[in-house]
Amino acid sequence: MARIAVGADHAGFRLKDELAAYLRTSGHEVLDLGTNSPESVDYPDYGAAVARAIVAGEADLGLACCGTGLGIAMAVNKIYGGRGAPCHDVTSARLARAHNNANVICFGERLTGPEVAREALDMFLSTTFEGGRHARRVEKLTVLDREYDPR
Ligand code: RB5
Repeated sequence: MARIAVGADHAGFRLKDELAAYLRTSGHEVLDLGTNSPESVDYPDYGAAVARAIVAGEADLGLACCGTGLGIAMAVNKIYGGRGAPCHDVTSARLARAHNNANVICFGERLTGPEVAREALDMFLSTTFEGGRHARRVEKLTVLDREYDPR
């Protein structure tokens, strides 16, 4: 069983809540970082919060939802060590873990129904990183995280 940080904006919190309930039923520990209402909020705040929880060691993996799964994934990927993958199906979820060592699965509530999302989430949680040639590539992502900041 894993500790899963979950977060969403107003366009994704219903799917986040449904998946969080499913995770709890499945025996996982859920760290809910909000949002929890339809009041308009900004997805970067929630994607960053999920990634920070993982980097800080408070969670093993994360789930992040917005309208498309795209903006919140971009936010996850801005945090050093955050690897957010927008997933639309079981195959993208499996390869996000196996090849990219993604640590946050991202869904778009406007694009992906709850049943598909549940199955993809199950696959994400049960797949391990393959390492090998993929480890070198993921390490290069970490190097890019440290790239020169021109400001
Ligand atoms: C919010 O309206 C929407 O733009 C957001 O949830 C997300 O889809 C952005 O990527």
